[in-house]
Amino acid sequence: MITSRRLFTALCLMVGLSVGSEAPAQDAATSEAAASAHLVQGVEYTEKGADTCIKCHDEDSEYPVFSIFKTKHARRADSRTPFAKLQCEGCHGPGANHSQKIRPGEKRPPIMNFGAKTATPSAQQNKICLDCHTRDSRIGWKGSAHETNDVACASCHRVHAPRDPVLTENAQPETCYACHLKQRADFLKPSVHPVRFGVLPCSECHNTHASVATRSLNKPTLNQTCYQCHAEKRGPFLWEHAPVAEDCSLCHVPHGSIHPALLTKRAPLLCQQCHSQAGHPSVAYTGAGLPSGTPSGFLLAGSCLNCHSQVHGSNHPSGVKLMR
Ligand code: HEC
Ligand code: HEC
Ligand code: HEC
Ligand code: HEC
Ligand code: HEC
Ligand code: HEC
Ligand code: HEC
Ligand code: HEC
Ligand code: HEC
Ligand code: HEC
Repeated sequence: MITSRRLFTALCLMVGLSVGSEAPAQDAATSEAAASAHLVQGVEYTEKGADTCIKCHDEDSEYPVFSIFKTKHARRADSRTPFAKLQCEGCHGPGANHSQKIRPGEKRPPIMNFGAKTATPSAQQNKICLDCHTRDSRIGWKGSAHETNDVACASCHRVHAPRDPVLTENAQPETCYACHLKQRADFLKPSVHPVRFGVLPCSECHNTHASVATRSLNKPTLNQTCYQCHAEKRGPFLWEHAPVAEDCSLCHVPHGSIHPALLTKRAPLLCQQCHSQAGHPSVAYTGAGLPSGTPSGFLLAGSCLNCHSQVHGSNHPSGVKLMR
């Protein structure tokens, strides 16, 4: 245990150095050799780290930066953090040139920045973060839907915020809705998973970093994702209803529906997608003898569920027709 932790720290230190050797976007033309030479000489980095930066970037500047000191990244006692090493430049890259005094009219040398609006490509931004964060849920980041669609870590994470909204249950969905407008609309429908009430963040069902499952679900199959919270639907049942064990989404949508109970359609239409009425006993249920125009007894109150109430399966000895 101790050895592996030491090894990890050592790796992190090495990683910290390689973060340092990353040339910032605008210097991409300069050769890698030059970059590492600078690293060895320690020229490209400021001598005083954050102290230099905050001379200009303080609470009064356009983008207040002090809040980062309240985050885990700023724990200097934790040797894995940027602040235990190159500090601001552990993420923003070498900043000595950028920090120089400049003459009036002169353009300040740029520094690497993050987020969707910056010139730095997402992959290059993400590399900085991934140098320290390859483990845990990011193991499969490469090839994930977000990675292949050029989404940056900084599109979801606010690392300067004392509380990153995407890590906060009730604030997380807003971060996602910035790009996922259809899902925002879904979660406003009458029947929903209670995401908009702040009790069920998207990450209860999705692993947004990476996943082997379709749609980045956090369990290998859709049904297993549902069983996390609806274990009673897993059974085993004496009398199974075949589609339930197969795939919940044959009848339910995951986010929101205009039909009750997140159904894709209302019964009887829902049921009639797969069942014809042909197999029914014809007496007593068909409405024979009633005035014409009276709907079939099967459709009384609009639903098959009045009789077949155990639609997910039955454990009753005589529940074979899912009626009890
Ligand atoms: C002498 C003042 C000064 C110092 C020191 C300084 N900056 Fe800046 N920085 C600025 C100004 C002014 C801007 C606004 C953009 C511009 O004029 O280029 C800026 C912009 C930035 C940006 C945004 C860049 C962009 O592309 O939008 C980042 C990030 C940044 N600084 C980080 C740092 C870091 C990290 C340090 C310390 C290594 C630092 N700055 C040191 C003056 C300074
Ligand atoms: C853990 C990585 C990390 C560290 C450490 C870090 N930053 Fe940042 N910084 C970011 C990211 C990511 C953004 C993009 C906006 C956000 O996430 O809030 C950013 C944004 C900025 C901006 C705003 C640029 C703009 O778009 O206007 C400035 C200025 C800045 N940082 C300066 C600093 C200074 C100064 C320090 C040290 C005190 C520092 N940063 C430490 C990652 C970091
Ligand atoms: C030099 C290494 C290093 C770099 C670079 C770095 N981080 Fe971190 N990060 C850490 C460490 C260490 C922690 C604390 C982990 C812990 O306490 O378990 C952390 C924590 C976090 C957390 C969890 C915060 C919380 O409150 O729980 C997030 C999110 C995060 N980092 C995102 C990023 C992003 C995004 C970037 C790139 C912009 C980045 N990190 C760059 C080392 C780094
Ligand atoms: C699509 C939005 C999104 C993107 C893009 C994203 N994250 Fe996250 N990240 C999240 C969410 C949501 C959580 C909380 C997950 C949870 O609670 O299960 C999280 C948690 C984290 C954590 C803290 C918890 C942990 O698993 O250790 C770290 C560190 C982190 N992300 C780093 C990164 C890095 C590095 C990148 C870029 C390679 C990145 N994230 C890209 C949404 C995102
Ligand atoms: C910067 C924009 C952006 C943000 C923010 C964002 N996403 Fe995405 N997301 C995308 C893009 C682009 C795709 C790929 C195209 C698509 O399926 O819509 C995607 C795909 C997905 C998919 C489908 C994955 C697959 O394998 O098909 C899921 C699930 C998802 N995002 C969840 C989330 C969650 C949860 C959040 C918030 C924590 C989030 N996204 C934040 C842009 C974003
Ligand atoms: C109760 C679990 C659950 C929650 C909570 C949840 N999702 Fe999903 N999501 C799913 C399932 C299951 C699918 C796959 C649907 C399918 O393939 O039929 C999915 C699919 C998606 C897709 C792929 C496109 C689509 O609509 O099928 C995106 C994007 C997505 N979810 C985003 C989000 C976002 C953003 C949030 C939070 C605001 C969220 N999800 C919350 C279960 C969930
Ligand atoms: C993280 C826990 C969680 C997961 C995973 C989950 N659910 Fe739910 N589900 C809930 C909660 C909480 C409710 C609301 C219960 C309430 O309002 O009493 C709910 C309600 C429902 C409802 C009833 C909705 C209504 O309007 O009455 C259906 C149907 C449902 N879930 C199906 C699913 C399906 C299908 C999946 C898998 C794609 C799934 N759930 C995954 C937590 C979860
Ligand atoms: C054959 C269609 C069908 C399939 C497949 C199906 N359901 Fe349902 N489900 C329904 C119907 C119909 C209702 C409404 C029942 C009612 O109104 O009495 C419902 C209601 C629910 C409810 C809310 C009421 C309750 O019983 O708790 C949950 C939760 C639920 N389903 C979860 C699931 C899960 C999880 C799966 C997959 C394992 C699944 N369902 C598969 C048809 C289906
Ligand atoms: C996706 C297709 C599908 C949907 C939708 C569906 N079923 Fe089924 N149902 C099946 C299959 C497949 C069987 C198993 C048939 C068999 O074993 O012969 C079955 C079996 C049944 C049985 C037991 C039949 C027997 O002979 O034991 C009843 C009752 C039933 N379904 C009622 C319903 C009701 C009520 C609904 C609507 C809420 C519904 N089904 C929706 C596919 C479906
Ligand atoms: C008034 C009560 C009632 C209603 C409403 C009803 N059923 Fe039935 N259903 C039954 C009974 C009773 C049986 C068992 C007949 C038997 O054992 O031979 C049955 C049998 C079935 C079977 C199995 C057929 C077979 O060959 O054994 C299916 C499938 C079925 N119903 C589907 C539906 C669907 C779909 C609806 C809605 C369109 C529906 N039922 C509405 C009472 C009802």
